Amino acid sequence: VKRVRTRHFQNAKRDGIKITGLTSYDQLTARIFDEAGVDFLLVGDSAGNNVLGYDTTLPVTVDELIPLTRAVAGAVSRAFVIADMPFGSYESGAEEALHTAVRFMKETGAHAVKLEGGVRSHKQIRRIVQSGIPVMGHIGFTPQSEHGLGGHLIQGRGEAVAQLLADAKAVQAAGAFAVVLEMVPSDAARQVTEALDIPTISVGAGPHCDGQLLVWTDWAGLTTGRIPKFVKQYADLAGVLSTAAQEWRDDVANGVYPGPEHSYE
Ligand code: KIV
Ligand code: NA
Repeated sequence: VKRVRTRHFQNAKRDGIKITGLTSYDQLTARIFDEAGVDFLLVGDSAGNNVLGYDTTLPVTVDELIPLTRAVAGAVSRAFVIADMPFGSYESGAEEALHTAVRFMKETGAHAVKLEGGVRSHKQIRRIVQSGIPVMGHIGFTPQSEHGLGGHLIQGRGEAVAQLLADAKAVQAAGAFAVVLEMVPSDAARQVTEALDIPTISVGAGPHCDGQLLVWTDWAGLTTGRIPKFVKQYADLAGVLSTAAQEWRDDVANGVYPGPEHSYE
């Protein structure tokens, strides 16, 4: 199979073919999603919540994400793998951002990096792109600035659509190959999608974007607790695993497992 490259994103937008992405943090899911034909896998700093057990993405470090990203990149044969740059690894300037991006590219085998922020991050995006590393932007609700934004709030409502458009255009002008729009009203996302030449990827930004991305643990019903309104659950993995664990416990308690077929003579 032919690897997905940045040109696939551009062609998909031109041809009106929707782009699909899921997060992945390990080789098992990476292999499954890759073979299922998902176009790109994001090793998100959402690993903070979903793998490492943090309450937010803020504590996540580059050193924590590198082994996860290496596992995902090593498992795929078609999907485009994107390394998410964590909070504190690019904000202080273009050189810091390039240093972090180069680490991900050298140490993991990822094909691109993602970082948060539009206008405020344009210098960082430009510097990384000029070095030959593709960048995915991320605007709208940006979880790393949750406290600055005042909570998990929808972005780009009403007059705020002007800021969203300015951020989108800054990301495109800086050379990003695509941009994530997170928690944005559908109509604002439509305006951004029409205004840009690069594809928009929706995370809770409605149907008019050029692609869709979800956090896999939410999408597969592995996350217990509240999941956002925009997530459609495609499986109940928490239920499947819970039932399996209870059956296993009972089988061991009742002497049903291991049977002779699971034992050596
Ligand atoms: O870390 C992540 O999973 C993300 C996506 C939700 C955009 O950044
Ligand atoms: Na992220």
